Amino acid sequence: MKAVIKGIGHYVPERVVTNQDLEKLMDTNDAWIQERTGIEERRHVGRNGSETTSILGFKAAEKAIENAKIDKNEIDFIIFATLSPDLYFPGGGVLLQNYLELDTIGALDVRNQCSGFIYALSTANAFIKSGMYKNILVVGAENHSFGLDMTTRGRGVSVIFGDGAGAVILGRSDDESRGILSCNMHSEGKYAEELMMGFPGTKYGWVDLMLNEDFEPDYDKIYPYMNGNFVFKHAVTRFPEAILEAFEDAGESIENLKMLIPHQANLRISQFIQRQMGLRDDQVFNNIMKYGNTTAASIPIALSEAISQGKIEQGDLISLAAFGSGFTWGSVLLRY
Ligand code: ACO
Repeated sequence: MKAVIKGIGHYVPERVVTNQDLEKLMDTNDAWIQERTGIEERRHVGRNGSETTSILGFKAAEKAIENAKIDKNEIDFIIFATLSPDLYFPGGGVLLQNYLELDTIGALDVRNQCSGFIYALSTANAFIKSGMYKNILVVGAENHSFGLDMTTRGRGVSVIFGDGAGAVILGRSDDESRGILSCNMHSEGKYAEELMMGFPGTKYGWVDLMLNEDFEPDYDKIYPYMNGNFVFKHAVTRFPEAILEAFEDAGESIENLKMLIPHQANLRISQFIQRQMGLRDDQVFNNIMKYGNTTAASIPIALSEAISQGKIEQGDLISLAAFGSGFTWGSVLLRY
C-alpha cells in the first residue's frame, strides 16, 4: 500500500512586507536582500497579530480538507511541524485538533525546523503504510515575525524569514502507481548551534533569567542565530545527496523528474542545487521571492502553489527536499 497526497492547501497572512518596508526599520536595502537571497517581499502576521502559528495552520488545513473532498472527521491523526509554536508547551498539534473540532485523535508535533515538513510527511507515510491510520493531516506552519529582531542588529536573519502555513491530507492510495515512493531523513547534531535559538531552553540561563532580574542573556541566544556561510556550504552538499538517495532507493531515474520543490531557504541555494544537478528552470519551483523563508511551511506552500498553477499533474514525479537547523535534512520522492 502507498500513501498519497489526497488534498493540499496553503494560507499566508495578508500583510505584505516589502524590502522597501524593511529599509524603514533597519539599515538594509532591496539590492542587498535580492542579491543575497532573491527575496522581494514576505508576509508578516506581526508581533501583535491575532493569527498565531496554529491558526495559520488551521486556515491551511481547512483548504487541504476541502481540496481532498473528505469529511474532516475522516482524519484520524495530525502531525504538526513548526519552530515557532504558540506555546513553549504543549505543541501546536493539539491546538489544531481543537480548532478543527476533531474527536480525540492523536496529534504529534515535529520540531525539525526547515526539514520539519519532510520529517512530518515521512512519518505520516510510515503510519499510513503500516495500516495504523487512514488519513493524516500534515501541517507545516510558522509565525516567524513574532520573534525576529527587526532592528539593524538582527538584519542578517530577519530579512530572510516570513510567515505562512501549508497542509496536506495524506491517505491510502487506491492506485499503486501513485503515492510516496521513498523518503529519507538525516541529522548532524554537532552543528546544532550553527543555526539556533537558545531561549527558552535549559542550556543558556533560562532559570537565571526568571530568578535574577539583573541577568542579561546573550543577544545571540534570545534571537535566532545563523552562521550564514557555513549553513550555505552544508546546504548545497546535503540537498543533492538527499534528493539522489531518494531516487536510488525508489529505483527511479532523475531523467524522469518533473519538478523539484526545494525548501525555500534562499534562492541562491536553490539555483546552486539546480546548476549542480543539471536541472532545467521548469524543473525547479521557487516562490521565496514572494514569501521569504517560511521554514516548515515552505515546501507545502510551494507544492500547493505549483499544483494550483497547473505545473504539477497527476502521475508526475516530484521531489521534495529540505535542509536546515539541526543540522537536519532529507527528501521525499513521490508520484503525485
Ligand atoms: N542588509 C544589508 N547588509 C547586511 C544585511 C542586510 N539585511 N545583513 C548583513 N549585512 C551585512 C553584514 O553586516 C556584512 O557587513 P560587513 O561586511 O560590513 O561586516 C555584510 O552584509 C556581509 O554579511 P554576511 O553575513 O557575510 O553576508 P553573506 O554574503 O554571507 O550573506 C546570507 C548572508 C544571505 C544569510 C548568506 O550567508 C546565505 O545565503 N546563507 C545561507 C543560509 C540561508 O540562507 N539560510 C536561510 C535560513 S536557514 C535554512 O533555511 C536552511
